[in-house]
Amino acid sequence: MDIKKVVIIGSGTMGSGIAAHLCNANVPVTLLDLKTEISEKARDRIHKSRPPLLIDKSKIENIKVGNINDNFDVVKDADWIVEAVVERIDIKHNIYEKIFKNRKDGAIVSSNTSSIPIKVLSEKLTNEEKKDFCITHFFNPVRYMGLLEIVKNENNDLNKINALKNFCEEELGKGAIVCNDTPGFLGNRIGVYAMQVAMTEAFKMKLSIEEADAVFGRPMGVPKTGVFGLYDLIGIDLMADVLKSFIKELPENDPFQPVAKNIPLINKLIENGYTGRKGKGGFYRMNKENNQKILEAINLDTGEYSPSKKIDLKIEITDINNLISRKDKYGDYAWSVISKIIKYASSLVPGITDKFNDIDEAMRLGFNWAMGPFEMLKEIGVKNFFERVDEFEGNKFLEDLSKSKNENFYGERQLYTNIETLGKIRPQALKLEKNKSAITHRFKDFNIVEFTTKANALDYDSMDALKAATDKPLIIMNESMQFSAGVNLTYTMNFVDKNDLKSVEKFIKYFQDTCKELKYSKYPVVSAPSGLTLGGGFEVLVQSNFVASHTNIVIGLVETIVGLIPAGGGCKEMLWRWSQTDEAKKDPDYAPLKVFDIIGYAKTATSPVEAEPLKYLKPEDKKIMNRNSLFSASKKLLDENKNFTPPAECEFKLSGKPLKEKMVKILEKLYNEKVILDHGMVVGMELANVLSGGDTTLDKTISEDEFFKLELDAFMRLIENKKTQERIKHTLATGKPLVN
Ligand code: NAI
Repeated sequence: MDIKKVVIIGSGTMGSGIAAHLCNANVPVTLLDLKTEISEKARDRIHKSRPPLLIDKSKIENIKVGNINDNFDVVKDADWIVEAVVERIDIKHNIYEKIFKNRKDGAIVSSNTSSIPIKVLSEKLTNEEKKDFCITHFFNPVRYMGLLEIVKNENNDLNKINALKNFCEEELGKGAIVCNDTPGFLGNRIGVYAMQVAMTEAFKMKLSIEEADAVFGRPMGVPKTGVFGLYDLIGIDLMADVLKSFIKELPENDPFQPVAKNIPLINKLIENGYTGRKGKGGFYRMNKENNQKILEAINLDTGEYSPSKKIDLKIEITDINNLISRKDKYGDYAWSVISKIIKYASSLVPGITDKFNDIDEAMRLGFNWAMGPFEMLKEIGVKNFFERVDEFEGNKFLEDLSKSKNENFYGERQLYTNIETLGKIRPQALKLEKNKSAITHRFKDFNIVEFTTKANALDYDSMDALKAATDKPLIIMNESMQFSAGVNLTYTMNFVDKNDLKSVEKFIKYFQDTCKELKYSKYPVVSAPSGLTLGGGFEVLVQSNFVASHTNIVIGLVETIVGLIPAGGGCKEMLWRWSQTDEAKKDPDYAPLKVFDIIGYAKTATSPVEAEPLKYLKPEDKKIMNRNSLFSASKKLLDENKNFTPPAECEFKLSGKPLKEKMVKILEKLYNEKVILDHGMVVGMELANVLSGGDTTLDKTISEDEFFKLELDAFMRLIENKKTQERIKHTLATGKPLVN
């Protein structure tokens, strides 16, 4: 089955997201709604979406729009028709009738429903039609969420389901998990249960919402929105509807039922318009006092709001064992929530799936958890778990495991895909080194370095791991949300606060040396980014020999925002890339001025298509839709470059003073227009000094090491500056830039 044309009916949140993603995959798509204006508006929303749903905004016109009365004929040509209208069975049934009257023979028809069983959706179809009808449950936002659940039942033509799965995996880059027709399928059944448990236990154990979110967040491997933050994000009213459908679909004795019950505070919130971020606020709300925005949190007992308190558990990265062994209310809460999730998920095996592994992967891909319930169980350890857990009667999975006590029960990961992934090969690889910031594996004849810090921020240990790993061909990649958000500013500021600038200098110098090693060691180095690839993270990538990039990246040099300049080779490499252009060959100031503009404005790109014109990525860098394929693409690059020779060192000829004067003029204009303030001017001057080559003239050659020195000196002058320190502290505290 070839999918060459797709029609989507319903252009709301999901229909428009799916259309945008098909456009990302260069598949012709038409979006129909009740009125053409509605689908036109949807196209506008796609264009303006943040984070962007499109990889390449210029392709927006490839999404055709229309209405279901005048333009329904497009269905006749479609190979796949996706229904994404409101969650109302009568409306959906009417649409299917119309679709099946018009579709071409064999075209696949699917619904994006999140809660209506396939049995009910397809009850009016003929047996022949049922063969081609399934559920394709995408997650919001479609471009960014890895999970696609393809739900089938006994009536389906399995060859067709498999062909659809392959298409969605290869062309759309989704982690496509085929599952059975059970309520909430895999992701929502466990994910929503987990949210309800985290919420009801917080009520029961008298935790504040900030406390619950601090536990049911990063330390547990759950995104930092936690449970109450996530409720606000999804919409408290929408969650109430989801729960109603679970209550209706699930048997009365399902352990989901008691945690799905109405909570008076939630009813009150919805009644008063506190439906979450889209409404007046929810569990959290923004309040304005004396013209200052204050984040407030609700008191679960009284329903009153007061300023939100930051809870610091002193666990920065996922560490379940640390969390559940705490001898305080946080430890008790964590254990109570985690053990209930494990018990519930395992009670569903083999009922909803015989592959427990798929549940874990659904939680990773659909909820961005660092690990699913069965991996949590593995992490806790079978012996430890059974020493602590209370009864689990009737749970066959746990009963069997309690008898076998098999610590290695898990087996291979990611069974749903045939792609050779990092997750799959990790257990076969030899763990060479682990420090506090990275793990190094040896697989076959090459090394893999995975960063392991919060947002994969880089420090001395990260560099240590990279440097040591260049003794073999090397792949730098990981499975976390971010490739690397850049140098660890907290780590750097700790030295600054102690007035230990020597240590900062030593670190930056070591960063530079390591990047040089990546670039010039005799073995090839591949970086395979996904997510944030900023600042120092970009510098690691740009000094790797090859790149296999996921299409979901945010890439760029953003140092000037915190009052610094890139000093790990970022200025140097960008200048080198721009120096290779035809324009630069004619005009020696062309490249430095371009880079001055890019780094000065801290420009970022949100996809490889945006990254290439800035030269953050090169045309030959691999761009990959399916994150699962990053490992095999990187491995292929190593295979193809067995006879690799490192590049020649770069060198620069720069105009020096006259070039710097041009840059100063640009800065003065921005200063006069108040685009930059006093310290912006200082940072700009330092950047100008580096990019103009410092004290040089066009007839002199600047070596790579000399350029590194220019970067380092500028960096050190800036980090010593109180105004830069203020910027860094402000950003660390608020996540926002300070303009000073
Ligand atoms: P929405 O309310 O944003 O959009 C629904 C669209 O359907 C609207 O544009 C509406 O004008 C259109 N529509 C209604 N009746 C129609 C008809 N007879 N013909 C053509 N268009 C019609 O809804 P949303 O959130 O996009 O949900 C769509 C489906 O996806 C639902 O089945 C929902 O359960 C499911 N879903 C929603 C998720 C979410 O996060 N919003 C996640 C996963 C699934």
